[in-house]
Amino acid sequence: MQKWLELSDSQAREFGDQEVHCKHLFADSGLFTDEKIARLIETYPREHYNVNTMNRHGEERFWRDGEIGNIPGEQVLEAIRDGQIWLSLHHIEKNVPEMGNMVKQAFDQIKASKPGYDTWRHNTSLLVSSPGAKVHCHADVPMIALWHLRGRKRVYLWDPKDPKFLPGHKLESIILKETEEDSLDYRPDWDEQAHAYDLEPGDLVAWPLNAPHRVDNLDDLNMSLTTEYMTTETQRSYGVNYANGLMRRVLGMSPRSQELTGPAALAKCAVALAYKKLGLRKSQEFKFISTFRIDPQAPDGIRLLAPEECKEINLA
Ligand SMILES: [Fe+2]
Repeated sequence: MQKWLELSDSQAREFGDQEVHCKHLFADSGLFTDEKIARLIETYPREHYNVNTMNRHGEERFWRDGEIGNIPGEQVLEAIRDGQIWLSLHHIEKNVPEMGNMVKQAFDQIKASKPGYDTWRHNTSLLVSSPGAKVHCHADVPMIALWHLRGRKRVYLWDPKDPKFLPGHKLESIILKETEEDSLDYRPDWDEQAHAYDLEPGDLVAWPLNAPHRVDNLDDLNMSLTTEYMTTETQRSYGVNYANGLMRRVLGMSPRSQELTGPAALAKCAVALAYKKLGLRKSQEFKFISTFRIDPQAPDGIRLLAPEECKEINLA
């Protein structure tokens, strides 16, 4: 088995439960050059990418979704290098099997030192983002591993068990998709209580489930893979928090337990699954609308679309 990670046995055993920072060797694959990524951008399926910018609207900056359009991949990279743009190519495991296999082999390597650590539903994204770009403080629903490839970035992480950073009702709201994931009440003084990691190419950082985090790109074009994945604990936590959210909203109850074991937890998972299968909350879920197109000639590398050109993005 190809070894893509330089991690100790103790780091492997802590993977997923604690913060882990170690080295990976993905750059040795030669898959992440400008030329390879430019070709990938040109052919990537529409339903599997997001491109975003942070746009000024009066005093406030806000997040926009957009389109790549039909321009050469090199020009997209140029616009990202000079602008404030995040491009995220999702489902790498389906669209670029060589990269997906690399990630799978890395997880196999972890499992070899952490028997029983099964991970599934891998959704790996390639994130290409501008120098100085930021990702606001948020919590993700699945587990996350961040494999940094190019440029430098600083990641701030907070304890997911501390309600100051992640109150239960916020997590429910994120899981029920009532809001985008960056809806935490972040304040700059939180940074003093964060664990901060300066990532260089070849660094891997992984953190416990739902840990709030924010990211500052430092210099140069940034490129990373992020892998979302599920484990038994993650699936259980999802079901319990989804059901707690429904109890609060539909039944007007105030559930206090976030216990992941026992009959109540299993019943909550069953309720959550039934609701999801019936699509009962679909209408309350957040929608993505595309409002700009990449244009390296335009200021900040983007051209805003006229209202009649804006449309809903159907992500798979
Ligand atoms: Fe995240």
